[in-house]
Amino acid sequence: MNSTNDGADALRLDGVRKDFGERHALQALSLKIAPGEVYALLGPNGAGKTTTLNLILGFLDPDAGRIEVAGIDVARDRLGARAKIAYLPETVMLHPQLDAIENLTYFALLGGRRIDASQARELLRQAGLQEEAHARRAGGFSKGMRQKVGLAIALAKDAQLLLLDEPTSGLDASAANDLSHGVRAASRRGVAVLMATHDLYRVKDVAHRLGILRAGRLLTERRTSELSASQIEALYLQELDAADPAPAGAAAA
Ligand SMILES: Nc1ncnc2c1ncn2[C@@H]1O[C@H](COP(=O)(O)OP(=O)(O)OP(=O)(O)O)[C@@H](O)[C@H]1O
Ligand SMILES: [Mg+2]
Repeated sequence: MNSTNDGADALRLDGVRKDFGERHALQALSLKIAPGEVYALLGPNGAGKTTTLNLILGFLDPDAGRIEVAGIDVARDRLGARAKIAYLPETVMLHPQLDAIENLTYFALLGGRRIDASQARELLRQAGLQEEAHARRAGGFSKGMRQKVGLAIALAKDAQLLLLDEPTSGLDASAANDLSHGVRAASRRGVAVLMATHDLYRVKDVAHRLGILRAGRLLTERRTSELSASQIEALYLQELDAADPAPAGAAAA
């Protein structure tokens, strides 16, 4: 078997299905992301975005289909695949007694990488955390500041694929903007990015491509360069309106 990634996709999903009992969370999902490409996965609550990320991370097993991270089949080598991935969860937990630099060096070490204070400062800067916060205890940090340290921790891993689950949810416009810049900086270094997001307004600036997921199906994929920000919103609403009525059971409160 060829173990090299000839296709050079950083991420590849082929016909991935995931059921939770009767509920079809994902149905035949296929997508590819190239190195350095930023892909925004859009979709309403319950569309299957977080499930997709959990499958890629190997936290869940698919019922059908195949997932490859940098050429590594997740089903065959879960840890090998996970070693290529940096992950920014929706809520970043930091050690409240440690400052930003200490948190970053500590979590980087847990991830197997030793970095010094000057490397930590550089990563925090790339992630958009203001200088004056670098040596402050994380206990007093806002959500935006925690997300930025989380992004720096993810960047420290030197991964080929960065996964983000609603990274800008609950952030003010300025913090969301800083975080988007951090994502683009990672992309320029060749890191592929898959971000689940509800932040339609920012998709054009941060992502090269978008996909709209609803009820576990990918309805459409587009290049963001072909659309204005308001066209992205219009496309999103139009695709969701045009989709089949919600599946039976989905409306149950
Ligand atoms: N562990 C689980 N057990 C049972 N059902 C689950 C589980 N995880 C997700 N689901 C269901 O799978 C579907 C997809 O959920 P998922 O969390 O992936 O959606 P999402 O797109 O991330 O939504 P949101 O925008 O609200 O975060 C939903 O119907 C959800 O209820
Ligand atoms: Mg989710």
